[in-house]
Amino acid sequence: MKLSTSILSSSDRICCVEKLNDTCTYFIHIDVMDGNFVSNEQMNSIIEIKSIEEVSKHFLDIHLMVNDPICYIEKFENMNIEFISFHIEVQRDIKNIIDKIHSMGYKVGVAIKPNTDIFVLEKYLDDIDLILVMSVEPGYGGQKFILNTVNRIRDIKKLIGDRNILVEVDGGINDETIKMVKDVDIVVVGSFIVNSDDYSNSIDLILRH
Ligand code: DX5
Ligand code: ZN
Repeated sequence: MKLSTSILSSSDRICCVEKLNDTCTYFIHIDVMDGNFVSNEQMNSIIEIKSIEEVSKHFLDIHLMVNDPICYIEKFENMNIEFISFHIEVQRDIKNIIDKIHSMGYKVGVAIKPNTDIFVLEKYLDDIDLILVMSVEPGYGGQKFILNTVNRIRDIKKLIGDRNILVEVDGGINDETIKMVKDVDIVVVGSFIVNSDDYSNSIDLILRH
């Protein structure tokens, strides 16, 4: 299991990324919120994201919580990004967004909110690299893990079958809830790490499982 640390809840994101450089997080998870798809508006400036990328020695894992993904994706040219995930709930041409991300050389993730029927993913399974399963309602860090996510991960894995698609879980993960999601490929952890005094110790508590 790889760790993707969400810096959303950090009070000084650059300093946070510098500190994460000395840890064994695998990705830096960037939560981009446009104030429309979710009511919160965070990290939606490319200048901020570029300055984070310059400081980070880890690849970025971008999570777009925005109504118009294409207009953000176009700005991510030539960056140290592994995945760009956008939400399946956006009222846009999904295949077009997938193609756009691939054409820029990045892997495609599709994020799904806790109450969205997982079968909407089915027709895109041959075109995507990752499914980002939300274990909280998108919009804020520090929320409580939704227990039903465990069943959803099981069902999504069945849906994936033997395709080469990774599963990532995001929201409310700490040293207790991690025990329920040990079988995912990537785990996003935010406040449990970035609000702690000792990042490496908190990361150890996550990765020892
Ligand atoms: C929520 C974000 C998450 C969040 C995770 O909308 O997508 O990435 O920052 O933070 P914690 O671990 O605090 O739930
Ligand atoms: Zn996220």
